[in-house]
Amino acid sequence: MDTVLELRALTKHFPTHRAVNGVSLALQRGEFFSLIGPSGCGKTTTLRLIAGFEMPTSGEILLNGRPVANLKPYERNVNTVFQNYALFPHLTIARNIRFGLERRPRMLASEISAKVDRMLSLLQLSGKEDRMPNQISGGERQRVALARSLVLEPDVLLLDEPLSALDPKLRRQVRAELKSIQRRVGIAFLFVTHDQEEALSLSDRIAVMHHGELEQVGPPRGLYLRPASRFVAEFLGDVNWIDGAGVRPECVRISRDRPVNGACAFPAVVVSNTYLGNCVHIETCLEDGVRCVAQVNENECRYETGQRVHVWWHPGDQLPIAVEQSVSAEA
Ligand SMILES: Nc1ncnc2c1ncn2[C@@H]1O[C@H](COP(=O)(O)OP(=O)(O)OP(=O)(O)O)[C@@H](O)[C@H]1O
Ligand SMILES: [Mg+2]
Repeated sequence: MDTVLELRALTKHFPTHRAVNGVSLALQRGEFFSLIGPSGCGKTTTLRLIAGFEMPTSGEILLNGRPVANLKPYERNVNTVFQNYALFPHLTIARNIRFGLERRPRMLASEISAKVDRMLSLLQLSGKEDRMPNQISGGERQRVALARSLVLEPDVLLLDEPLSALDPKLRRQVRAELKSIQRRVGIAFLFVTHDQEEALSLSDRIAVMHHGELEQVGPPRGLYLRPASRFVAEFLGDVNWIDGAGVRPECVRISRDRPVNGACAFPAVVVSNTYLGNCVHIETCLEDGVRCVAQVNENECRYETGQRVHVWWHPGDQLPIAVEQSVSAEA
């Protein structure tokens, strides 16, 4: 294990709000790590503490094993890509990317140019270096913002919702590029997002944050299939809570007849069918009034509203969350 960034009981209390509360975390070199959680849970504050824009109330931040909490932002080898990625509008793409390097002492102009050229080519911006930021697309501007930070070769790149300004299609495209760029440069990324699909698809590990604390940390599949709490289960996807069990819609089956023994099955009535392009959500109502949603392929969807059916699933597909825990998490 090669830890590049370590947070030890990191805490930031504003006079009116406990934004970050005892966060401990170790980021490995070259790791793609996502921090997710609802609005106001403390994600940006955590990044600002690491970058040095805020002083912690208590706790430690170590970069390559060295405490940095008392260093100025420019004394830490960390860079941030913000949500609005604020490029300099009056500078060309190439000069935007060179900007940080030119402020480094003892760097030769030829060395700077070589690094900038490498970034232009890595981010597929070659040929666009003389354009101004308003003469390129949104996705290209996003890549310039990345290039501008990556060229400084930080130990850790902090990204605060960097894709949120892009439309959904471009967002998916840039998301795929982001992953491949991160693999090629081998720099650890600490990526903040609201979007669970983004986090699940990009990350080596994910931390789910809630009220300033890390609720669970682990690889995407582990968190999705074995959430430690109801909060984590629901933040990462939809869940049906039925009879003390939690089951995701893609694990729920529907049939006309009661399935054979061994399945968890309940009689239900179909309430609605929602077509979503690649799948259909069938909402049903059980006899006790509880709703249960099944996600099925379109060719499986042959149930009409009002029809009596059975919803069922394999017991092994239930989320392994204790009932008491799911109740207390709700409180
Ligand atoms: N300077 C400040 N003074 C007082 N409270 C603050 C300050 N900065 C942030 N907060 C509060 O701390 C909490 C965490 O804020 P933060 O910006 O870290 O949330 P976030 O998880 O990034 O949310 P979002 O997803 O909306 O960006 C919020 O309740 C916010 O109002
Ligand atoms: Mg934020």
